Amino acid sequence: MTFANIGAMLQTLSLGCGARRILEIGTGDGNSTLDLAATLPSDGMMITMEMDAALAGQARARLVAAGHEHRVSVMVGDATRFLHKIAGPFDVIFQDSDQHRYEHMLDRLVDLLRPGGLLVMDHVADHGENETMVALRQRLAADSRLHTSFLQVGDGVSVSVKRAS
Ligand SMILES: C[S@@+](CC[C@H](N)C(=O)[O-])C[C@H]1O[C@@H](n2cnc3c(N)ncnc32)[C@H](O)[C@@H]1O
Repeated sequence: MTFANIGAMLQTLSLGCGARRILEIGTGDGNSTLDLAATLPSDGMMITMEMDAALAGQARARLVAAGHEHRVSVMVGDATRFLHKIAGPFDVIFQDSDQHRYEHMLDRLVDLLRPGGLLVMDHVADHGENETMVALRQRLAADSRLHTSFLQVGDGVSVSVKRAS
């Protein structure tokens, strides 16, 4: 058994809330994309955004190999621009891109989330004097639209549930 595995945690959260629509910011080469895609029902869908075209290509190839290409759309470019061109609601949103852009994207991500949906953000722990993450955690904790827990998994993970109103 492996502890502190964010992939397994994402899958548990996605299955637990019956996710049919998932949004991911920061595909990388597709590890978390594959983990989340595997939890979707046959009519589910996922959008994932990656600014590095080479990484997006690797992720696409892995999705094809796993048979998930019909349910997962990989958008290549800056997510801060794409987020205003897609429509919600999403059941699960996984933020795993550039930590310095997390706060900037936060309001749009909350808008795109359904009430009761989950916003998961990776790498939210302190790294020395990382004031960006301190400010983000304070903002999440104070955000009345969300109920947030901070988990010591991997590099620090926040899990926020969007309140009904
Ligand atoms: C930590 S990696 C993602 C890892 C992936 N989620 C996984 O678990 O396998 C972060 C990725 O976010 C991408 N990224 C950073 N800023 C971005 C932005 N504004 N829009 C889209 N992708 C971005 C980077 O190119 C990088 O591949």
